[in-house]
Order: sequence, then C-alpha cells, then structure tokens
Amino acid sequence: MAHQQSLHATSLSNPSQFWAEQANSVTWFKRPTSILKVDRDLPAPHYTWFADGELNTCFNALDRHVLNGRGSRTALVYDSPVTNSKLQFTYAQLLEHVQVLAGVLSQHGVKKGDTVLIYMPMVPEAAMAMLACARLGAVHSVVFGGFAAKELAKRIDDCNPSVVLFASCGIEPSRVIPYKPLLDEALSLSKHVVPIRICLQRPQCRVRLDANRGEYDWEDEVKRSRRANLKPECVVVKSGDPLYLLYTSGSTGVPKGVVRDNGGYAVALIWSMNNIFGVGPGETMFTSSDIGWVLGHSFIVYGPLLNGCTTVMYEGKPVGTPDAGAYWRIIQDYRVKVLFTAPTAARAIKREDPHGELTRTYNTSSLRNMYLAGERSDPDTLQHFQALLKVPIRDNYWQTETGWPITVACAFHDPSKSTPTQLGSAGPPTPGYDVKVLISTSGKHKHEVDHDDSHNHVEWQEATEPDVMGTLALKLPLPPGCFPTLWKNHSGYLKSYFSKFPGYFDLTDAGYLSSNGYLNIMSRTDDIINTAGHRLSTGSMEEVVAAHHDVAECAVIGGQDKLKGEIPIGFVVLKHGTVHSNNEIINQLVAAIRKQIGPFACFDRVFIVHRLPKTRSGKILRRILRAIYNGSPYDVPATIDDESVLQEIKDAVRQPKGSVLSAKL
Ligand code: COA
Ligand code: AMP
Repeated sequence: MAHQQSLHATSLSNPSQFWAEQANSVTWFKRPTSILKVDRDLPAPHYTWFADGELNTCFNALDRHVLNGRGSRTALVYDSPVTNSKLQFTYAQLLEHVQVLAGVLSQHGVKKGDTVLIYMPMVPEAAMAMLACARLGAVHSVVFGGFAAKELAKRIDDCNPSVVLFASCGIEPSRVIPYKPLLDEALSLSKHVVPIRICLQRPQCRVRLDANRGEYDWEDEVKRSRRANLKPECVVVKSGDPLYLLYTSGSTGVPKGVVRDNGGYAVALIWSMNNIFGVGPGETMFTSSDIGWVLGHSFIVYGPLLNGCTTVMYEGKPVGTPDAGAYWRIIQDYRVKVLFTAPTAARAIKREDPHGELTRTYNTSSLRNMYLAGERSDPDTLQHFQALLKVPIRDNYWQTETGWPITVACAFHDPSKSTPTQLGSAGPPTPGYDVKVLISTSGKHKHEVDHDDSHNHVEWQEATEPDVMGTLALKLPLPPGCFPTLWKNHSGYLKSYFSKFPGYFDLTDAGYLSSNGYLNIMSRTDDIINTAGHRLSTGSMEEVVAAHHDVAECAVIGGQDKLKGEIPIGFVVLKHGTVHSNNEIINQLVAAIRKQIGPFACFDRVFIVHRLPKTRSGKILRRILRAIYNGSPYDVPATIDDESVLQEIKDAVRQPKGSVLSAKL
C-alpha cells in the first residue's frame, strides 16, 4: 500500500511533475512543454493536459514498436469459439493491415477530424478499424453490436459519420445476428445521410451490397488499397484532439458522447498497464469485454498495444462456448498474465463450475492477477476465484467518462510494492484521482446531497470522517485520460457533471472511504443501472414503455439479480378501457425494449398495478419501488397517506416472473 499511497500523494501535490514524468512513455512528434495548463477564464474544469504536445496514437500503438525492432512480437490474438477460428497478428502484420485500411478510408475521403462509426462484433478488423481512424486523425465511434436500430440511429445523428464500417453479422451462441438490416433501419430512421458504408462479409451471413448506393465490400476495398500501395503515414494531431467518442447512457433517452483525447489517454493507459496491471511489453493481457464498451477501448485495444503487450480478442461467452473453462483455456494457450472481466462473467463461471473442476483442468500458472470492474463484486465470488487461481482478485472502479480506473489496489511490476486487496472494496484511489465523499449538512439523510425526499435543495460538504456514506466526487483537476468534453455539447458536459458540486466532478455513485483509504461503492445516485456490466438508463426504458398506447404511467427500476447484478423491472399503470389483456401488453412492452434498445437490456419483468407511490408534488418514488422489489428496508414517506398502494406493489413483486396482478382494470 505504501508505494501506491506515496505515488498518489505526489500526483496530487505536484500533478504537473508527476504526469510530466509519465509523459516520457509516449513518443511525441512535439513534446509538450505545457503539462497542466490552467485557464481560470473558462468555466470549471478550466485546465488542459499536455496542451502543446503533438503525437499520433496509432504511431504509439503500432509503428514505434515495429521501428524499435519488436515487429515480430505478437500484438493481437483472436480466439473465437463461436466461429471455431483462431488467428494471431504480429505488430508488423497488424501495422500493415491498419495502414491498408487507413488507405481505404482515405480513398473515401476520410481525413483528420472526420467521424467514422464502427458497428462490429469482436473481430480483429474492428480493432484495425479503430487504429486506422487514429492513424488518420479521424474520430471513431464504436457502437456495441447488441444495440437495436433506433439506438444506432441516435448515435448516427449525433456524430454524423462520413463512413460506417460494419460487419455483416455478429454471432451469439444461439443465433447469427445480421447487422445490415439493423444498419439499414437505423439509416432510414436517422436524418444524417452516411454516404459510404463498408461491410466486412462474414461467412456466416453474406449480404448483397450495392456500390451505387454507397455500399462497399471490405475485402475488395482492401485489395484495391493494397494494389495502389496506399499506406498513409500517421497524421500529427494535438494532444487534446479527439481520438474517439463513445456513447454511454445518461439519464435521458439521449446517449452522452464521451470524448477521449489522444495525449492524456496514451499517457494514462501506459501508466495503467505498467502500474495498475503490472503487464510489460511482450506480456499478455486478456480483457473479456466488447470493443463497444470503454473497457474494450482501453484494455483490449489501446492500453495493451500502446505498451507493446499482446492482447487477446475473444469472441465468445464466459460459459457455454463451449463451457465454463473457456477463460482458463485462453490463459493456458496464450500464457496470459492478467485477466480482466466483469463480475457477471465471474458469477456465471462460478455458477456453472462451482467446484472449479474446469479451472484445474488447465494450466493457469502464467496468471498473476485478475481484475473485475463495471459493477459491484460480491465477496463470495472474489473469494472463490482467489482460492482457485491463487492470485489476487482486484476489484476496480471507473466509468466511461474517466477511461481508466479511479480506484484499484495496484499490482505494479514488483510484487513487493503491490497494494493488498480488501474484500468488498474497489481499492484505494489511483494516482491523479482525488476521491471525495460529499455529505449533506442540512438534509435528513447525510448521503442525500442532491435533494431530500421533498425535493428541497440541501447544503453539502466533504466528509471529514471515514466510513461516512455520501455521494462520490473527484476534486478537480481530473487526471489525464479523463473526458475533456461531450461531443458537440460542452454546455451539457458542464451542466451534467460539474454544476451540482462546483470544483468537483460528480461521479453519481454513492459510497464511502474506509479509514485505510479504500473505497466502497454502494449504488448509483441517478437512474443508471448495470445489467451484466452493461450501463443502461432506466429513464430511456421508461420512455419506450410510456410510448405504448395503453400505458398511462410507468417506472423502471433496477432490481437485484444474482447473476447479472441488476436487471430492469417495470411497473406500469394502464389507461382505462384498454382492449388488450395484461399479458398481451407485457409481451408488447418486452418486445418494444428488445426492438428499440436491444435484447442485452434483459427487460422481461413487468408488473401491472393500479397506482404508483408518489411524492406530494407527483414524483414517482422509485426508491420505494426499488426497496420493495429488493426486499430492503425503507421508511414510508409522509406523502403516502394510503398504504394500500405499497401493499399492491408488494403483492405484485411476489408473483413469479411474467405473471401479473389478477385485478382486471
Ligand atoms: N449482440 C447482439 N445481441 C447480444 C449481444 C451482442 N453483442 N450481447 C448480448 N446479446 C443478447 C443475447 O443474445 C441475449 O438475447 P436473447 O434474450 O434473445 O437470448 C440477450 O442479449 C442477453 O444476453 P446476455 O447478457 O449475454 O445474457 P445470457 O443470459 O445469455 O448470458 C452471461 C449471461 C453472464 C454469460 C453474459 O451476460 C455475459 O457474458 N456477461 C458478461 C458481459 C460483459 O463482459 N460485460 C462487460 C461489459 S464492460
Ligand atoms: P461504465 O461507464 O459503463 O463503465 O459504468 C460506470 C458505472 O459502473 C459506475 O458509475 C458504477 O456505478 C459502476 N461501477 C463500475 N465499476 C464498479 C465497481 N468496481 N464497483 C461498483 N460499481 C462499479
């Protein structure tokens, strides 16, 4: 702990010096002379990292390793049990593929600052697409393959891509998911017209393409670029220029376009690889996530490659492809040093193989540390894997917005410096992050720093004692790598994250710091839930449910789920005189969420009730609904004068999945 603590203290007392040293790990075209530029004329956060630095992230991830004589090292391993295929790319090979693909994009007019949308599953071409954009200074936006057409359309309309790179299909264990119909539907819904769409044809689903309509075949385009020997050099970008934007759920149906810069991100990721994960050049990291999420951006693609490591891209599930031994096989086959996955995946493996028989079938001796993030990890699961794998399991806490861990017990290269883990905690703060707990000084509950139950504003301050629960916030400045803005929405950025607590970034999570400085995360303070590690807005689900013609009002809350952490639970009040049965309506609502958001939202529990509990001013008390569903204690607010409304909800949630209250409206 002492090593991390001392680095953390230096990073806060002298951030410029700390990050100037870390910036030496990057190959700059122009080395920054300004490390932390503070401009108090701007609204907070009024600072820029490495403002005058110039670089190219693709150069740092690929070219420089090849130029340094490491071209024959393995950069990327593709392991796909769902297609029964495996491939490996050295740094030199990956660079060649990326150069050629950058040639394809530049032939289609893509240049610095343009946006390119990537709608692809976990195939190597998806990583190549990201790096090809970075090479040209174009801004990529990867959209998770599980999103339905409407969500894709929202993202197209927000980022206005000049090109979409997509695959003909994704492959789920139970079925092939054709992407072209989803993209076509999204394009018919969006206002923005995407002139060029380039499709990677997968043998599981070949599609017809029409060049007259701007549809091109990936392989043909690559051949053309290779024939023409188009291999664009890396374009010089400013440190603060955007590398990518990644949409994440906000409180409304409109996703937030989190922007990531080039310089700060590269510095933060290389620091993370060596210090948080203790993985050096030539060593292998296996992050089991999806390139559609921040974890995939940071620790499948950019982090490992920037640091000259080998990354494993896995197209499969933790269980069922073919069994719960899949991760252990990968560790054995590629001598994986670090495994990073979601708690849900760990729980799924534990459920399928409770005694770890499959773990013992494989040689996992190369593994040094396992990391879990994205949602709360339960101590049982942590203990189970710690005992089986005999390595520390390091829970870590971060957000799409930060891009890399806020808290974690760092492993470091030297095990004697490594920070011990503590069950139930996501670890102490990482250098650069000044984590604070904000508490109410005037409301009834200390942790309600936003509004109290009657929606009155409350005064707040930093907690001065340990073990006090409150809203988590980061004191400014945020370290390098964190988002400098939201895509084309800087006022939304300031308002959503920095206005409630001036001088702080509002993490919208509740938790507490223990006396030893370790952080414990309890829950979100907004309407975001985490289902199988996927961040979802219950607000956007409510929008879909409320749009049903028979629904008078509704609430969607996060219910506890043993496997997926949280799942969305709907409570619906119907309009009078509906001709459909309750079951028909429930089926339609479930289908609407699958169609408009995506099946991965796992929305399949809906309760039809006569009334919803509300405050006097008419706001639905989702907190009470959540407590009733989860069987946790709650105070009956003074605004509830008729307790039968709560009794009806209690009766409803006791019904088995899919059933509804017998009362016919
Ligand atoms: N594209 C299209 N559909 C997808 C998808 C994708 N990329 N990912 C999931 N889905 C669909 C599934 O096919 C399924 O559809 P269905 O209801 O028609 O069967 C639905 O979404 C739910 O899928 P999933 O979450 O995979 O649930 P599951 O019960 O089949 O599997 C787990 C359970 C635990 C194995 C799975 O949830 C899992 O692998 N979780 C870890 C996820 C993860 O790594 N998260 C980290 C993100 S940072
Ligand atoms: P995302 O932006 O998708 O990474 O989701 C970020 C949110 O996931 C955080 O705000 C937390 O609510 C939750 N989260 C991430 N990591 C953890 C963790 N280790 N423990 C508890 N919650 C977490």
